[in-house]
Amino acid sequence: MRHRCVAVLAAGALLALPLAVYQRWRPVRQAAARKAFLTDASHQLRGPLQALRLRLENLEPHLADEGLPGLEHVLSEADRMSRILSALLTMARSEGRHVPARPFDALAVVRERAAAWRPEAEARQVTLEVAGEPVVAAAVPGALDQILDVFLDNALALAPPRSRVRLAVRADSRHVRVSCRDEGPGMSAAERRHACERFWRGSDAAPGEGSGLGLAIASSLARANNGRLTLDAAPGGGLEATVRLRVRARGHR
Ligand SMILES: Nc1ncnc2c1ncn2[C@@H]1O[C@H](COP(=O)(O)OP(=O)(O)O)[C@@H](O)[C@H]1O
Ligand SMILES: [Mg+2]
Repeated sequence: MRHRCVAVLAAGALLALPLAVYQRWRPVRQAAARKAFLTDASHQLRGPLQALRLRLENLEPHLADEGLPGLEHVLSEADRMSRILSALLTMARSEGRHVPARPFDALAVVRERAAAWRPEAEARQVTLEVAGEPVVAAAVPGALDQILDVFLDNALALAPPRSRVRLAVRADSRHVRVSCRDEGPGMSAAERRHACERFWRGSDAAPGEGSGLGLAIASSLARANNGRLTLDAAPGGGLEATVRLRVRARGHR
């Protein structure tokens, strides 16, 4: 009897082991398959889309004047599709990437991205401000840059003329928070809950622009760097988008 019990327990343990391994690795395999599919699909679609755009452009000399606005419209839709494909590709690449985190000065990155976006802000008569102290954060190189580009792209698209967009860097002993606050229309609590879902766009988002992937990519980049992205109502109206990253670990050079 005792031997039978031991045999049953041993058989159970032997069965449980591969099951545990399978369950442990299943999400990893699924994520890898999803990433491979996203990468392949966006790569495969790019070629035909470029060919389609070229063929459309070649039609221009054969069109009557009344047809030209229609052609412009179709070309801008093709450009939008190509932006969506690039965003999908960026997203696929950022998922499950095991690039080591590196220390960097978060304020320097914020200043650099602000400088890159200032001409766009000026064209829209928006003042772009940066506040905060230098702080060494740890993330995959380029991640904070990309997240800030998403924040600024959205904030500047929606900020009214003569308003301010403020970038701020705040830190405590464990985390650095980089936020982008605008004075635009903001979002309701329900909209903020959905805004980081793939392809979600607000009802008043300009048709023909954007892909609904910006915040989804930014939030997946934040998670890949042990961080978090949050959206809050800015005091006085507008949106405050914040990414929280880790400060440099002790002993990390
Ligand atoms: N700063 C903002 N103020 C108000 N709404 C915003 C802001 N940023 C994003 N949104 C809303 O969230 C949606 C999703 O943003 P995003 O993922 O960047 O996609 P996209 O900009 O391509 O539409 C936008 O369509 C918009 O409705
Ligand atoms: Mg966007």
